[in-house]
Amino acid sequence: MGDPIHRQLRKAFGADVRSEAPLADSGAGIRISGIDLSQPLQTEQVNALFDALAQYRIMTLAGQDLDAFSAAHFERFANHWGAPLPHPSNFRRLGNTRYYEPELLPLEARPSTRVNAAFPDTLRCLPGADSPAVFVVTNVRDLRDEERQAGPKLVPSTTWHTDIEHHAIPLHVSMFLVHRAPVARDAPGGTWVPEWVPGPDDPQTDRYFEDSDPELLRLRRALPLNGETAYADTAAAFAALPAAEQARLSRIQVRRHSYNRNDQADFSPLVRTNPRSGIKSLHSPLWCPRPPTQIPIEIDGMSAQASRALLEEVEAHVLQPEFRYDHAHTPGDVTLWDLFMTIHVSPPMKENIQSLDDARLFYRISCKGEPALTLPRQDSSEWIGEHIFLEYTTPEEVIQAC
Ligand SMILES: [Fe+2]
Repeated sequence: MGDPIHRQLRKAFGADVRSEAPLADSGAGIRISGIDLSQPLQTEQVNALFDALAQYRIMTLAGQDLDAFSAAHFERFANHWGAPLPHPSNFRRLGNTRYYEPELLPLEARPSTRVNAAFPDTLRCLPGADSPAVFVVTNVRDLRDEERQAGPKLVPSTTWHTDIEHHAIPLHVSMFLVHRAPVARDAPGGTWVPEWVPGPDDPQTDRYFEDSDPELLRLRRALPLNGETAYADTAAAFAALPAAEQARLSRIQVRRHSYNRNDQADFSPLVRTNPRSGIKSLHSPLWCPRPPTQIPIEIDGMSAQASRALLEEVEAHVLQPEFRYDHAHTPGDVTLWDLFMTIHVSPPMKENIQSLDDARLFYRISCKGEPALTLPRQDSSEWIGEHIFLEYTTPEEVIQAC
């Protein structure tokens, strides 16, 4: 407990607070227990948590009592970190594309309703999970007859990414509240899911462009098999670079397009400096986070081909094992990660599940804008109108919860 962050936490929350850090060999990760987030936080406590995340990039506040803690408490807590951004999974899709209309799905079509229909006698989403700000991250849903008959199937991971980095103000923190994590370990090798090796006819191979360097493809696909979230620490990766390379990357501005080709693209720096800790990191140093549908980013002053070559070189550096960390989830965990100092990927997953032992049910909230020591937040209506889908703000009754 000699670390200044540990001392600050004990001063703010009392001597019963315990913390363990770092969790990763890279220096990332802190796990804190003894903090009850169903209670409002004092200014000094919020400050201590801001400093802990600024230092450690990934932070778990373990042991929330899920009989008392709700997704509404979670959303109130999220308001300290930034304005919660409603998640597109709660919106209507435009036709068959991945573009979204900023219009909320009716409650019966929201992900939380589908979760509640899957195991109606034994599993319900926590109160508040149907908020537009809550992204229900899960493999739990009601199944059609043919899906039930076909049985569970393995779904490969998403690709390495940072959450919504292409807005004028990118998201800077995301957080999970863990309700259920899979406990089944019935795959060969004693893991939840078996290792996935893409075959030549596998439709999922298009998630990465196959003409990338084979070693880079191998690093991208080396993922955990028990439902952990995989992170790469872009702060440690930046710190490990030679000074000349750090200086070169620090001069780079990237143009990030949204999914919609007609939208204005914004320039943003590749290297960010955390305003609290002063730690420098690479913000989403990825040529194309979600190929092939998302438009690749470009480096100011470089061709598309040169942009790709440079960024895939940086990605191969960031994905080295010494910067990687697979985070295991436990029910009752609230886990935050700084989106400027990490990249992440969801793991291979079992879907069409019919046993609660396979259930992975998290609630995610992501935030943008300035942190707030006190609530309610004081964002202007103009700022909300410009930067937050649906002009959403957390309702007063949620901020006042309990
Ligand atoms: Fe993500």
